[in-house]
Amino acid sequence: SATYENVLVEQRGRVGVVTLNRPKALNALNSALMKDLNEALRAFDKDDSVGAIVVTGSEKAFAAGADIKEMKDLEFVQCYKNNFLADWTGITSIRKPIIAAVNGFALGGGCEVAMMCDLIYAGDKAKFGQPEIKLGTIPGAGGTQRLTSLVGKAKAMDMILTGDMITAQEAEKAGLVARIYPAEKLVDEAVKSATVIASYSLPSVQMAKEAVNKSLELSLSEGLHLERRLFQATFATKDQKEGMKAFAEKRAANFTHE
Ligand code: CAA
Repeated sequence: SATYENVLVEQRGRVGVVTLNRPKALNALNSALMKDLNEALRAFDKDDSVGAIVVTGSEKAFAAGADIKEMKDLEFVQCYKNNFLADWTGITSIRKPIIAAVNGFALGGGCEVAMMCDLIYAGDKAKFGQPEIKLGTIPGAGGTQRLTSLVGKAKAMDMILTGDMITAQEAEKAGLVARIYPAEKLVDEAVKSATVIASYSLPSVQMAKEAVNKSLELSLSEGLHLERRLFQATFATKDQKEGMKAFAEKRAANFTHE
């Protein structure tokens, strides 16, 4: 697989692992790193031997936010003309499920990148925050929108207006984080879950991801409509036949992702 300057990529079975790797800057998300991350994710998304992806950082930091030193002198017209931060949302067009395995700091853009993933697992010492307000700005990669739909207005407003961080335990209680593991076990556990997910029928996994993510955007009746159509569509896959036949025959299903 390709090599990148700011991220490490490896494949463990059917799981693609992308590790943000700018340790000197606590994985601050500069444009070079975001380009590498997007490219690495797109490569795994296209690779038939990969069924799920884990994105992680270091034990000290998942990512300490957008790179402040890189952006501090930007002017509005430059930001506007180049649609600054718009290309970050490439992560949300990846169609395979992505687990963010967050150890240490997930701040500002770091928290926002984690929220662009489908699931967040946290190490027990992880900290989440949207501290942009302390820098004279506001979240710019989905913080005001995604955090609010994930944790509700009270917690989101509190975090975004005070800039205070929350712990992994608070983040789990608030619904931002699905599971907490001891920091040193986190990545292996995330890969374990991703391996389970990747063993299921890929088209069904993709449809499930798509339907859940759409629930944040659609009305209930539109969302239920989409869900029913996707559910019905699974009956066109070989894997649905195999999955249900295997159940009836009391054996494990052998999915071929077709
Ligand atoms: N951008 C650029 N460099 C960063 C950075 C960032 N977001 N975060 C950390 N670094 C750099 C530091 O400048 C430092 O570099 P030097 O050694 O060259 O001085 C190095 O990483 C280590 O950081 P610290 O010495 O500060 O480490 P610490 O353990 O004392 O503190 C921290 C850790 C609390 C995370 C602190 O680094 C911090 O507050 N970072 C900034 C967090 C932040 O404000 N993030 C939001 C960015 S704005 C944004 O993300 C906009 C958006 O919505 C997309």
